[in-house]
Amino acid sequence: MTEFQVRKDNLAQSRLVSTSVSSKTVPEGSVVAQTDCFAFTSNNITYGVAGDMLGYWQFFPPAEDDGNTWGVLPVWGFADVTHSNCSQIDIGERLFGYFPPSSHLLLRPASIKDTVFFDGSEHRASLPAGYNRYRRVSNEPGYSSAGDNRAGDSRAIDSRAMDELQALLFPLYITSFCLWDALTENHWHGAEQIIIMSASSKTSIGLGYALAQDASAPAVLGLTSMTHCDKLGSLNLYGNCIAYDNLADVPNVPSVIVDMSGNSDLLGRLHTLLGDNMKQTLNVGVTHWEQPRKREGIISDRCEMFFAPSHIQQRFREWGPEVFEQRSTSFLNDAFSKSMSWLNIERLDGLPGLVSVYADVCAGTIPLDKGLIIKM
Ligand SMILES: NC(=O)c1ccc[n+]([C@@H]2O[C@H](COP(=O)([O-])OP(=O)(O)OC[C@H]3O[C@@H](n4cnc5c(N)ncnc54)[C@H](OP(=O)(O)O)[C@@H]3O)[C@@H](O)[C@H]2O)c1
Repeated sequence: MTEFQVRKDNLAQSRLVSTSVSSKTVPEGSVVAQTDCFAFTSNNITYGVAGDMLGYWQFFPPAEDDGNTWGVLPVWGFADVTHSNCSQIDIGERLFGYFPPSSHLLLRPASIKDTVFFDGSEHRASLPAGYNRYRRVSNEPGYSSAGDNRAGDSRAIDSRAMDELQALLFPLYITSFCLWDALTENHWHGAEQIIIMSASSKTSIGLGYALAQDASAPAVLGLTSMTHCDKLGSLNLYGNCIAYDNLADVPNVPSVIVDMSGNSDLLGRLHTLLGDNMKQTLNVGVTHWEQPRKREGIISDRCEMFFAPSHIQQRFREWGPEVFEQRSTSFLNDAFSKSMSWLNIERLDGLPGLVSVYADVCAGTIPLDKGLIIKM
């Protein structure tokens, strides 16, 4: 087994670790899943930034780590069951969910239903349920596996592209859907303007799609770095795009801020500029993870953390999982197909491929129209 690990106290540093694990002795009730492909974006770096605070380091304990120095950043992707000692899960089944960036994962399926199960491994028991949920995609109606690609026909190519879009965009656009849902539920916090920070991130772009299809949504302003401004503007997603350098141009009207950047210097300056017009800020992400944390200017009593898995659990309780899935799937399908007009998938060869782009993902220099897929 080979695994991609990062230093917990210096996320920019990574290593590949190989260990010999015998898959002949799969414990009773467990299965081995062999990773096929997964996506990698700033979201995965954020799992490391919030690793201690939100428990992300606990999902996949690193191999060969004596000094509690290294950690494994979770990724979203597809894997195929290669060994099964669980009577309800067959060898060959394809799974979608949360995996380590490694060749294999041992899972202990629990609460098994036709199209879903949860990993019942003890070390994951206290972690958010949404991350322990695996979709048994082979059993989903209409699913065609990228593994059916042997004939090389166009249908198989489409299924590979669909898997890649799912791996890349599902965890991000489901968050966009939840953000839109939370904003509407709160009547836009009385704002006339929604300001999205780190507007070139895919989670932001997904929110742009959700807001664009809602006639009741206020004007949308994307804030981004100078290098992304033109390209982002050309996607025509937001009513207006402004570079961080031109913060003073932000219209001073009642605003709600959706912050994917975690850049407290920028946020403090924006809060100071808007004053009473800053109605509410949703702290969603930390793409600018290397920036020092500051408090100056931040109106903290009108800031709230937004965590998509908690929002989904809340809606599961209120609407039921079926209604949530129905509503979110309709949005996701539409947003996926719109994204195909600008998104270019770059396939990288295995974990060495991930190593080759890791520094660029950390530095935020991946072009906004590129989606990275690691094909194992
Ligand atoms: N709270 C939740 O439940 C939840 C769920 C999903 C995602 N998120 C968060 O949303 C954020 C966006 O994730 P994503 O995967 O959609 O991002 P992404 O598509 O990979 O976004 C890349 C963009 O982030 C900015 N960036 C990245 N690294 C940077 C760096 N080192 N310095 C400066 N800017 C950098 C740049 O945008 P700009 O130039 O526009 O700033 C860059 O274009 C992440 O922090 C993620 O964890 C939160």
